Amino acid sequence: MNVLGIDTSCDDTGIGIVDDRLVIHANVVASQVDLHARTGGVVPEVAARKHLEVIVPLFEETLRCAHMARDDIHAIAVTNTHGLVGCLLVGVGFGKALAFSLGVPLIGVHHIEGHIYAPILQRPSLPFPHLCLTAAGGHTSLIAVDGHHSYRILGETLDDAAGEVLDKAARAMGLPFPGGPVINKLSLHGDPASFHFPRPLSRSRVRNFSFSGLKTHFLRQLREVGDVQARISDLAASLQEAVIATLIQKTIRAALEERLSTITLTGGVAANTRLRSLISKTAERYKLTVCLPGSELCGDNGAMIAAAGLLRLRDGLVSGLDLDVRSTGDLA
Ligand code: KG4
Ligand code: ZN
Repeated sequence: MNVLGIDTSCDDTGIGIVDDRLVIHANVVASQVDLHARTGGVVPEVAARKHLEVIVPLFEETLRCAHMARDDIHAIAVTNTHGLVGCLLVGVGFGKALAFSLGVPLIGVHHIEGHIYAPILQRPSLPFPHLCLTAAGGHTSLIAVDGHHSYRILGETLDDAAGEVLDKAARAMGLPFPGGPVINKLSLHGDPASFHFPRPLSRSRVRNFSFSGLKTHFLRQLREVGDVQARISDLAASLQEAVIATLIQKTIRAALEERLSTITLTGGVAANTRLRSLISKTAERYKLTVCLPGSELCGDNGAMIAAAGLLRLRDGLVSGLDLDVRSTGDLA
């Protein structure tokens, strides 16, 4: 049984194929980074049109990578919830057409559920329950994963997402989009203690995140610094440290309070090398286990959607051909 997963929720067109042992046969992503670098951020209509242009060739390429023919696909999973509506429509329209023409089931997947499945793909023996920190450009959540499609949201961002802060700060410093990986690289040469930025809600028992105050503080600091270029690595390292320390503190506290001994990281920000090494060290101190998916699984991709769809299909949770899209919605 092979499930094809499609994700067109934002600025990456991702198509992957996963089998019923959670083996990845292909996971191909067409990134729109160069396109959106020109505007310094994602323009929804431009992104949707690009998905439309690349989705069929990307599907053919995915089959080639997996050494499969169309008839080898037994189900289609597609992101239909959480993302830019125009972008979601392209993936869902294509997914429906494929499911209809191949005569196979269609499964609508919540984008964040897809991210939850990236660590499970990395390590199929991952125990339940576990705690999942998903941090990306469009979402930041702490989720107790009690079982397949059984979730409790422990905390979410009240305003900006972690990746969004990095992207906006990078833009203000004249750095290219997306800012997260650039800030990650610059930070290697900077001193994370050179500027002190607030770590919002990190000491409070509240499990929600709030990053907009940090963003405002950073932008104010930028104006005061004057010669930004001269201090750019220190600024990047200090901001990255504030974001990461907040994510780690709140995640570890939630894991201990909820008695969840396994933590997973996912979403684009989970590719951050400083976050990965620091959370591993901190977790070790508390005798917690951390599962970090490879960076190709952290960002948006089709394999994670295929995996989430596979487990839904196994439990009979299939969608009709009237499947609609939603920009946000509860994880169910
Ligand atoms: O999961 P993703 O590909 O898309 C969303 O669902 O949002 O995440 C993209 C986000 C962007 O904000 C990007 O700047 C951030 O992930 N990101 C990183 C790194 N790589 C990507 N942030 C920090 N360090 C990185 N290495
Ligand atoms: Zn995402």
